[in-house]
Amino acid sequence: MRIDDLDTPVLLIEADAFERNMARMGEIAASAGIACRPHAKAHKSPLVAGMQKKTGAVGICCAKLGEAEVMVAAGIDDILITTEVVGRGKLLRLMALAQSARIGVVVDNEENIDELARAAQTAGVRLDVLVEVDVGQRRCGVAPGAAAAVLAERIRDSRWLRFRGLQGYQGAIQMTADYATRRQQVKDALDKLLETAEHVRKAGHAIEVLTGGGTGSVAIDIALGGLTELQPGSYLFMDAKYAAIEWENRAHVPFENALFVLGTVISRPAYDRAIVDVGLKAASSDGGPPMPVGLPGASFAFAGDEHGQLSFDGKPCPLALGAKIRLIPSHCDTTVNLYDHFIVGRGEHVEDVWEIAARGRVQ
Ligand SMILES: Cc1ncc(COP(=O)(O)O)c(C=O)c1O
Repeated sequence: MRIDDLDTPVLLIEADAFERNMARMGEIAASAGIACRPHAKAHKSPLVAGMQKKTGAVGICCAKLGEAEVMVAAGIDDILITTEVVGRGKLLRLMALAQSARIGVVVDNEENIDELARAAQTAGVRLDVLVEVDVGQRRCGVAPGAAAAVLAERIRDSRWLRFRGLQGYQGAIQMTADYATRRQQVKDALDKLLETAEHVRKAGHAIEVLTGGGTGSVAIDIALGGLTELQPGSYLFMDAKYAAIEWENRAHVPFENALFVLGTVISRPAYDRAIVDVGLKAASSDGGPPMPVGLPGASFAFAGDEHGQLSFDGKPCPLALGAKIRLIPSHCDTTVNLYDHFIVGRGEHVEDVWEIAARGRVQ
């Protein structure tokens, strides 16, 4: 089937660019001798996770327990859950998972460590535990410094938990457009993590894993040194936000846009305007509007849940009724979460359909 014959809206992966992105991250991590544990929150697909493992990933990260459940059910056997898992119901699910896969989890609180230890003992499983450090995001995590050593001690006190190391992820700086500014921000965050690691080591705890980094920071993290594992997610697809950032070598942007929303012109109400079938339910808006491809001078604005407007600002719109258009999502993660399937295209043709099996698994 030809891509242009697809019914819309659909979420399209450009296979060639996607494969290059996957291989490129594998090479970047391998040549630096750093383990890569890509974040599956971007793709939510066990099929894609399997491909990442085949191209050298040591395992994957999941943001939510529900995502991890889908991945383990599909045979992914080594997962770090990068968000704290709290409360009895969730802990029961976590222990069930840990019975069939190697599961790591992050903590930032003694109470949570104690409930994890009790649940692990009851289930008879040993769980990998990392202490999360707030390296600037002001989200979860203990403050940098000595507090992490106290939590490491508490983890070591339980024979059902295994202290593995520290996580420090700074999401807010990944898309800082200016390269020099981003480099400094990444250094500040990394310094906080490394300084914390020193406290933990001095208190007598070995650190096997120091994990962090996203698409915008991995090259800088590698150059600065210190992390043992990287957890980038968006690099597979990229998006309009990431497309706008500067890289160290401007001529050599490491990753390509590989994800598109395909839409159709459903109305031509004015000579300089087209209405398409892509609204808020077909492309996420948290990162702004998606970016039209191959339509110079066109701007996209959401025109409701099911409609989008392509405006040519006084110039004639070249699109006929029924024409297909491509949009680069502004934020890949939240757009992927709107769809059940990726349509995989190569050149003009549809090659495959991949289920986004963990789509909507927010619990
Ligand atoms: C904890 C954590 N690690 C890694 C990532 C991956 O970052 P990116 O998608 O920018 O590569 C995210 C993304 O939000 C995250 O929350």
